[in-house]
Amino acid sequence: MTTKFIIANWKMHGVQSDWLNWAENAVKTAKGLSGIQVVLSAPALGLSAVVDAVAGSDTVFAGAQNIHEDFEGAHTGCTTAEMGKEAGAVYTLVGHSERRDEFSEKGAQINAKVKAAHRAGLLPVLCFGEMGTERAAGDHLKTIERQLTNGLNGLTEMDVSGGKLLLAYEPVWAISTSAGSLGRQPELAELEEVYTYIRAFVVNKFGESIGSAMPLLYGGSVKSTSVIEALSVKNITGVLVGGASLDNTEFSALITNASKA
Ligand code: PGA
Repeated sequence: MTTKFIIANWKMHGVQSDWLNWAENAVKTAKGLSGIQVVLSAPALGLSAVVDAVAGSDTVFAGAQNIHEDFEGAHTGCTTAEMGKEAGAVYTLVGHSERRDEFSEKGAQINAKVKAAHRAGLLPVLCFGEMGTERAAGDHLKTIERQLTNGLNGLTEMDVSGGKLLLAYEPVWAISTSAGSLGRQPELAELEEVYTYIRAFVVNKFGESIGSAMPLLYGGSVKSTSVIEALSVKNITGVLVGGASLDNTEFSALITNASKA
């Protein structure tokens, strides 16, 4: 059975007591459930608390939301992949649309961050997805192709095999807090089109056995009520969850439903 990933992205929410509480809730909920892996992407200052709370769980892991691409340097306010790894993170998000938009992260830098994650022994979750205007113009596959080509530039089969890279498609227009929302969620046929494309892209780049096993996640307003449908789409093997990960009751229901999907 393919492991289903449920990656929470807490963004810039919570304080120490919330991070602990959310992490303890996730551990309690995931205990005894099979076929899932839960990742809690905490703010950098919350990583240690999460690492402590998930210690001993074989289902729930800590992740970073962002890393700098350099090993060290004069970059005030930034954290390296190595710092995340030392703090106990296992995963890191890379290239989230809010990083691309608010911090002007572009393809080459995002690609360097993926490589920095690998350098430090973190598992990168490369996020990508078109904006509402690109979807409306019918350019979504072009955007996805560009973001994947740039983001995966120079990566070898060895770099990404065995779960060492996860991809998360998040159409910006479907993210719950997006200013460019199209006011609707993707239809199943739209998701099928995109995931067929992504799967073919990675099979073409990394070969059949590695490409067909690469985890492909969906993100964009996933809730406990929609997670089963999202995971029923061919080639979607996980979800990246923002808003719904900030409420214990809702996130527990989402985890439980995902484990049944
Ligand atoms: P959302 O956020 O679930 O609140 O839409 C997803 C994300 O931005 O990763």
